[in-house]
Amino acid sequence: MRRRLAAGNWKMNGSRAALAEIAALAEAFPAPASEIVLCPPATLLAPAAARAEGTALRLGGQDCHPEPRGAHTGDIAAPMLAEAGAAYVILGHSERRADHGETSAQVRAKAAAAQDAGLTAIVCVGESLAERDAGETLSIVGAQMAESIPEDATAEALVLAYEPVWAIGTGRTATSAQIAEVHDFMRAELTRRFGAGTGDAVRLLYGGSVKGANAAEIFATSNVDGALVGGASLTAADFGPIVAAL
Ligand code: G3P
Repeated sequence: MRRRLAAGNWKMNGSRAALAEIAALAEAFPAPASEIVLCPPATLLAPAAARAEGTALRLGGQDCHPEPRGAHTGDIAAPMLAEAGAAYVILGHSERRADHGETSAQVRAKAAAAQDAGLTAIVCVGESLAERDAGETLSIVGAQMAESIPEDATAEALVLAYEPVWAIGTGRTATSAQIAEVHDFMRAELTRRFGAGTGDAVRLLYGGSVKGANAAEIFATSNVDGALVGGASLTAADFGPIVAAL
């Protein structure tokens, strides 16, 4: 039985004041059957950890360096995220792939570093609109999975997020049929590569304009175990209904 998960990706947004709202939201779910994860900017991890203490809220980073330490100005190592209170780290988000030219090989190295640090990597994959229109969705997602997921990935250390680039921040959500096609494919690929045990246990999230109004339908879709939420994770008013729909 896979534990459902709602992860909020604050991207380059948020403030100490905004943390209070989300911590209060987590307090409303004292013993949740599902997991609530918040991935704020790295500068907010430590205050978020203080806020999250005693609640069901878990925390994540938004990126990490593949090496555990070293001369890499501006980067953050996976063990540093863990020390700051993170249990998760988002890797290979399409915004990082686009803004920083991050390749799947780099994502794979980062995911291995995250696993070594005891973090669960939320590895993001997804096609652009041009790729979907060209009928390449499954081959793009398959290639990103093959290249981004480490050989020794475990179900504890890996969550896979399908985020079609055209649905991110656009208000345009993929249909249930589109999500099911990709999630069923991802499940089959994981099972083929890692065997039925791990393949069945890895959680698959959908991301892209998830909101309270569409969350229940998305969560009822085949092989969807939760959501990776951007804009609608910034306030308790928007994130609350998504968490409640899990
Ligand atoms: O990682 C979450 C994300 O990219 C989706 O963003 O704002 O469409 O929910 P949004």
